[in-house]
Amino acid sequence: MCGIVGYIGNRQAYPILLDGLRRLEYRGYDSAGLVVEKGNTVTRVRVQGKVAELAKKVGAQVLEGFCGIAHTRWATHGVPGEVNAHPHCDEEQDVFVVHNGIVENHELIKRELQQEGCKFASETDTEVIPHLIKKFLTEGASLEVAVGKALKLIKGTYAVLVIAKSDPGKIVAARQSSPLRLGIAEKEFIIASDPSAIVSHTKKIITLADGELAVINKDGYVISELQSDTIIDKKLEEIEWDMSEAEKGEYEHFMLKEIFEQPEAVKNSLRGRLLFDEGMAVLGGLKQVEDKLRKLKRLHLIACGTAYHAALVGEYMLEEYAGLSTEVCVASEFRYRKTILDPETEAVLVLSQSGETADTLAAVKEAKQKGVLTLGIVNAVGSTIAQETDAGVYNHVGPEIGVASTKAFTSQLTVLALLTIFLGRQRDMSLVMGKRIAEELRALPVKLEKVLAQSERIREIAQYYIKTTNFYYIGRKYNFPVALEGALKLKEISYIHAEGGPAGELKHGPLAMIDKNFPIMAIVPQDSVYEKNLSNLAEVKARNGRIIVLATEGDSEITKLAEEVIFIPKTLEMLTPILSVIPLQLFAYYVAVLLSKDVDKPRNLAKSVTVE
Ligand code: F6R
Repeated sequence: MCGIVGYIGNRQAYPILLDGLRRLEYRGYDSAGLVVEKGNTVTRVRVQGKVAELAKKVGAQVLEGFCGIAHTRWATHGVPGEVNAHPHCDEEQDVFVVHNGIVENHELIKRELQQEGCKFASETDTEVIPHLIKKFLTEGASLEVAVGKALKLIKGTYAVLVIAKSDPGKIVAARQSSPLRLGIAEKEFIIASDPSAIVSHTKKIITLADGELAVINKDGYVISELQSDTIIDKKLEEIEWDMSEAEKGEYEHFMLKEIFEQPEAVKNSLRGRLLFDEGMAVLGGLKQVEDKLRKLKRLHLIACGTAYHAALVGEYMLEEYAGLSTEVCVASEFRYRKTILDPETEAVLVLSQSGETADTLAAVKEAKQKGVLTLGIVNAVGSTIAQETDAGVYNHVGPEIGVASTKAFTSQLTVLALLTIFLGRQRDMSLVMGKRIAEELRALPVKLEKVLAQSERIREIAQYYIKTTNFYYIGRKYNFPVALEGALKLKEISYIHAEGGPAGELKHGPLAMIDKNFPIMAIVPQDSVYEKNLSNLAEVKARNGRIIVLATEGDSEITKLAEEVIFIPKTLEMLTPILSVIPLQLFAYYVAVLLSKDVDKPRNLAKSVTVE
């Protein structure tokens, strides 16, 4: 949830740290801070607010030094404010720490340290870390040993970067359940929570694993196991990212860029994965578990937020076309259920854009503990979930920076459709059906372009609704989860209250809310539930409800029922969500922009939810 970055090398650290923070800001943005070290002096600057405020505060001040650490925060313990902003330090201002994660036993450690006379300056859980490190330094330990000793006392999750005035020219880094990557360039090192802060300097990275500690100086680095001190020889990876992928280019916001990237994203998720003549999907990441997959009787799909909505669509696909019993559970609830999992015939499939979501990761760990095969549909290559799962499929849609997930969703649906072909053809799906889905998938990018071409009209519709305070989204079958997703998009970036639900549930309660001021967004393509949806629209109309409808091109009937109609091209029923979600993303985007909201960084949210 927080972004951390550190630099050590031959260049001035401050501009590199600031640039890194700007790129990481989507991970959290309620306060920011940094420390730059020059010999035995350090300068710390912290602010409440965004990274731009930090730059303003530094202003013309010369922050010199070749080593430093920085942080952009999403508050968990302690309100957003300067005193709670990282880096935190001990009373003597010797040890400075930036931290992403949660120290679960901080109350207990704090109490013990206070009894020893320690004074705390902030309300954060993090502050216990520099105090503990300082205590061990005072007892004679080197910085790396002191960090190791301190971290062994901590329960919870962390990615930490530590520097000390008394041991200059060194960054100590460690991780436990929060991502951390070390970028390696010519005599310089950048260490950060994700590659976006690294790729402009080097594409060579090392991903730290849980329980690993790195000691970095300008001449090199040593990585060891925190518990055993054993030195580890880590593999260098080459990041595939193109820097332009992490930049807005001509677009006003990352979200808009990512919405418009969807035809390309779907193409990338499909690339090389369809065998048209055989009506089959090739999923290299599942090769090693193919036999196990053949024996599956039930698949559990687990995810959070938008990825959970994709999983709900996947449930319809897999049951209808692959004939595989499928269960969907929101990751944050999975842990409370006593789900009965049979390792012989069941598997867990998690979906995650970031590959770092704490609840989703916890579900993977729980499933593994129960001896069940774990699979992942993950976008971030090399992320924790990608590493923890037994097998999986990457989305290959490049970094998603806008906090509201868009291209990851359509890509997740695309991969789920590929998986449906794959599992279906292992079972009873006919060659004809396999070919049909493959052909329809291939045709999607052009159809997506057609939907995107209506963006100006969607902007005009959005303009009409900016004063609306409530929205209800409805859909059935494949488009019921799209209703949930549309409502989530609107509320998270415009802060307008929006709910979604199955159209059939309308008369079981929500219809009571409908009047001329409470509009309905209905997703009604010409599919197997079309007639039933028309009845729902008639019910809304009879209560004077205003209706915006997403309909199939050429549907003249529906225009009689709705105030506004947005058309999507015809496709296979199971693939309609990939098209129908686009107008909903654009609608939410334009409403938020017209309301002057910070679309890419909505209040109270952050991109990668690495805390429970
Ligand atoms: C909403 C959104 C979130 C994420 C959720 C899961 O627009 O982005 O609901 O979908 O936090 O994140 P990942 O997919 O990274 O596990």
